[in-house]
Amino acid sequence: MTKLDLEINHDTWMEICNISSSAFAPIEGFMDEKNYRSVVDEMHLCNGEAWTLPITLDIPENKKEQTKKSSSLNLFFQGNLVAQMEVEDVFQIQSEDTAKIFKVSKKEHPGVAKELSRSQTRAGGKITLLSSLDDPFSSFPSTPAETKKFFAEHNWKKVTGFQTRNPPHRAHEYLQRIALEVSDGIFIQPLIGWKKADDFSPKAVLQAYKTLISQCYPKNRALLGILQTPMRYAGPREAVFHAIIRRNYGCTHFIVGRDHAGVGGYYGKYEAQQLCQQFTNLGIEVLSLCGPFYCKKCQMVVTEKTCCSEDQQAASISGTQVRELLLKGEHPPHEFMRPEIAEVLIELGKKGELFCGK
Ligand code: ADX
Repeated sequence: MTKLDLEINHDTWMEICNISSSAFAPIEGFMDEKNYRSVVDEMHLCNGEAWTLPITLDIPENKKEQTKKSSSLNLFFQGNLVAQMEVEDVFQIQSEDTAKIFKVSKKEHPGVAKELSRSQTRAGGKITLLSSLDDPFSSFPSTPAETKKFFAEHNWKKVTGFQTRNPPHRAHEYLQRIALEVSDGIFIQPLIGWKKADDFSPKAVLQAYKTLISQCYPKNRALLGILQTPMRYAGPREAVFHAIIRRNYGCTHFIVGRDHAGVGGYYGKYEAQQLCQQFTNLGIEVLSLCGPFYCKKCQMVVTEKTCCSEDQQAASISGTQVRELLLKGEHPPHEFMRPEIAEVLIELGKKGELFCGK
């Protein structure tokens, strides 16, 4: 049996780092066929633990036969040897798997389109990390070891995790203040990885959060870190995946709000919360929170659970409208976004650094 060299992409490189850091515990390598099938079909690993999204290594079609004959793979990223994998098996995914994972098979769904662009051949096996590469985000905690140390040093026993791919708006802030009310601290962990072109850039999300935390939150109650993994836009399944990861980072609670990890109306408003509630073995408590809005009758931010108004009239503004306003250098309504956050984003917009795409 031989060793084979394989060049990997940035997504795969991030997943290797997550496997090695225990962010994806109990996973110790790329999934073999049995675990892959169990995750896609049953939302559990073969050992019975909850797991909802496959973590797999793509094998290009022209390397399939060679991979089958290899005992291990040398994995190269941008020409550097970064990891090795013991090849346990090489398998084909099924064409209907995408629809099982995303609940939709339309190519208009960005996660589906990305999944369909991948090779159908995958290889499973344990990973050994050999080197780490320069990381432009190294000033932010990114591993479970770092966050667990921080939580212990600050005596945070009850820690709420918050996933996001956006700069904070008032609804996010409302959810986070609920977490601050009921826990010792909040761990805000934006997802830094592949996102669709019109999503906000990592720089925009991180700078906006730095501003919010330093100017608006009580000192030493909020930690800003990063999660380096691609966005899947898989709604409910991704919410469970996000919760499991935050458990691994040492959080005791995790917020799932409205349309968590959703896109384009493919999932129900609270479908992600419903799926999370079906799992009793996540090892983290999911805080299912409703969508906050400013109610003119109540004269404050409320949710559908707390609003006294018969016809709840939420002043709404779409993501597209917000993006357009910011690019024109204009503030979205203050009840939607804090002016100090809008300022940060407008400045980045002037430099062409506001969104992931060019
Ligand atoms: S996500 O793709 O990372 O989920 P986003 O950054 O918008 O997107 O959301 C972060 C978290 O805040 C998710 O738990 C989401 O459900 C919640 N959330 C976002 N907007 C609202 C809202 N208007 N009302 C309630 N929850 C929200």
